[in-house]
Amino acid sequence: VTAEKGGFEHFMLKEIHEQPKAYRDTMLGRIDNEGKRVQLPELKMTEEQIKNIRNIQIIACGTAYHAGLVGRTVIEQLVRIPVETDVASEYRYRSPIVNKDTLVIVVSQSGETADTLAALREAQSNGAHVLAITNVVGSSIARDADDVIATLAGPEIAVASTKAYTSQLIAFNLLGLYLAQVRGTQTQDEIAHTLAAMQALPEQVESMLKQADAIKGYAEQISKHQHLFFIGRGLDYAVAQEGSLKLKEISYIHSEAYAAGELKHGTLALIEDGIPVIALATQENVLEKTVSNIKEVKARGADVLAITYEEHVAPLLKSVDQAFAIPKTLPLLSPALSVVALQLLAYYASLALGHDVDKPRNLAKSVTVE
Ligand code: G6P
Repeated sequence: VTAEKGGFEHFMLKEIHEQPKAYRDTMLGRIDNEGKRVQLPELKMTEEQIKNIRNIQIIACGTAYHAGLVGRTVIEQLVRIPVETDVASEYRYRSPIVNKDTLVIVVSQSGETADTLAALREAQSNGAHVLAITNVVGSSIARDADDVIATLAGPEIAVASTKAYTSQLIAFNLLGLYLAQVRGTQTQDEIAHTLAAMQALPEQVESMLKQADAIKGYAEQISKHQHLFFIGRGLDYAVAQEGSLKLKEISYIHSEAYAAGELKHGTLALIEDGIPVIALATQENVLEKTVSNIKEVKARGADVLAITYEEHVAPLLKSVDQAFAIPKTLPLLSPALSVVALQLLAYYASLALGHDVDKPRNLAKSVTVE
């Protein structure tokens, strides 16, 4: 335990605990005093440009790509503009269809990822307006982008990204609300309602961190397995993908994230007695559907942990083996809470296996070569 780790055993744990501050700092000054409007004075994009946006492409790598998967749903729901999300190494070589009415959003903690930077340039050369969401304002990506929204997560040292990802989620919600304000796709009341829920997130994360021991116990159980699955629908699927990546990166346990409804098209064949399945079940519009998918894996012997809201724990415990409750929030904001449970899960699984949590084998914090 060293001073630079703020009394924590690892940077990753410190950074997980810094998330309430990262959320607050990323929102600071971007919500007006009455809590009714988003203000992003740093944007150079004019209202006219915003009104002319026809489509949005979100480009990133790794964890930032997973934030982009959440960003897609957030923006589509709030602004009703079609959004696609792609990994930068694919995007840059697929001759992307963009023009001056395309908004390209690149997401990068470091602002130095080679593929993301190349994708930014590819989009710009085709006439797109490029907005960067980045944690490093002096980075190459911040310099080259037409617009920048800084995440204020502070320096992230652990290779496995945590507070940068969640700050990116906050940035996407702020941006989505801002675009909705300009384009009139959300009422003032709806915007104020979402902003209030966003401002409650830091305290909600704090309350989750106090329950870390419950996650630790489960992490120790799964650390004895070689394969496991994460399932979910909608935003829960996006979070499942991030949870699976986090676990792989630092525990080296093989896991797959699956859209719950897609399991029966193949992956269900891999479910056998005792295999752990982590089911994210926060999206209430598809909750019943997710429950039927949980029953499908249970029937094949899976050992299921559900991550859901308190009010669903009791009914869900009829179908699952264990449940972890997260604080209640709006559907679009649930990733900012549920992912914290998965970060802790990956951390404690890695710890139980005795791996180097902050510096996993074969991985680098920032990938500046192709
Ligand atoms: C590396 C890191 C990941 C990160 C990815 C993208 O693979 O290990 O944690 O998500 O790069 O990095 P960026 O800085 O562009 O967000």
